[in-house]
Amino acid sequence: MKNTVLVIGGAGYLGSVLVDKLLERKYPVTILDSFIYGKRSIEKYCNDSRVEIVEGDIRNIELVNAVMNNASSVILLAAVVGDPASASRPEQTVETNYLASQMIASACRLKGKNRFIYASTCSVYGIGNKTLDESAPLNPVSLYAKTKISSEQSILQLVDNNFSPTIMRMSTLYGFSPRMRFDLVVNTMTMTAYAENRINVFGGEQWRPLMHVKDAADAYIKVLEADIDIIKGKVYNVGSEEQNYKIKEVSEIIGKTISKSAGRDVPVNIEKTSMDARDYRVSFKKIRDELNFHVTHTIDEAAKEIYDSLKSGIIKDPKQKVYYNHYFDASEDLIG
Ligand SMILES: NC(=O)c1ccc[n+]([C@@H]2O[C@H](COP(=O)([O-])OP(=O)(O)OC[C@H]3O[C@@H](n4cnc5c(N)ncnc54)[C@H](O)[C@@H]3O)[C@@H](O)[C@H]2O)c1
Repeated sequence: MKNTVLVIGGAGYLGSVLVDKLLERKYPVTILDSFIYGKRSIEKYCNDSRVEIVEGDIRNIELVNAVMNNASSVILLAAVVGDPASASRPEQTVETNYLASQMIASACRLKGKNRFIYASTCSVYGIGNKTLDESAPLNPVSLYAKTKISSEQSILQLVDNNFSPTIMRMSTLYGFSPRMRFDLVVNTMTMTAYAENRINVFGGEQWRPLMHVKDAADAYIKVLEADIDIIKGKVYNVGSEEQNYKIKEVSEIIGKTISKSAGRDVPVNIEKTSMDARDYRVSFKKIRDELNFHVTHTIDEAAKEIYDSLKSGIIKDPKQKVYYNHYFDASEDLIG
């Protein structure tokens, strides 16, 4: 039997995919989550002896301190996620993304939870005109990115002989998840192609690194299973150079894929102005060279998968608030 992994935020978009993969690899899992977006994604584990589910908020020191006792490794995904969500709840964002994260890392160190993996984001780069590696200057354009940077810094300061944290600066994710999000660029475009027979692009010239949520989960498993001396105190960009895209390229790929699946032409509307200032291309050489990490999934595959889930009615109404982080809404009306 392998050692227990505590996945904090395990009911989320990435967390629910990662928990599936950890179980496939025979890790017992503890999920700690406050279920901001409901429990549907992890309901299937309610009577599963391999999974312990704890409902609670990571801002509750007493609870977090107790929950980590049975775990050997800790993966911290829980956060107020995305620029709009953090802008709508700034206090909760600072408390969760920075203060609670710092507290969890400190407790892990004191309690000898050596392997600690922290979910950060390539949004920390904000705007940049070169291909950015992990040493590039940080240029956050949102509170979300600022809190992630503060957490990275405070966690890395704790590195010692018994605490080996790893920071994962992930690309923007896409693809189907048991906890679906339609506020991520690929998923949004696929949804509007399906529901409104059009794709709206704002700006379109901005670069963005993208990665399938299943590939992201695989990256966490790579780090979990890597030699501790390799990953100790490291920051990794997580993704692949091939999936640095201009937003308008993404719309073209999705337009083609959905036109083919639906048997009708899906037009792409390009608006010149963009509300989203982020524009960056990222190098993923370090994680490729040090951990042999390669992605295996693509945007067109994900668009097809999401289209099928909408068409078959697995997701009844993609416009429900629960699929958009900034509403903080938990009510999900699904078929089945
Ligand atoms: N999805 C992406 O494109 C992306 C890209 C880069 C980085 N990330 C990072 O990956 C992590 C996971 O993102 P996601 O897309 O799965 O987001 P998500 O919003 O789907 O999941 C976050 C989970 O954390 C939980 N949570 C939030 N605040 C909590 C609190 N105070 N106490 C306990 N649980 C709490 C929520 O209930 C939710 O289940 C985040 O840290 C995010 O910053 C995501």
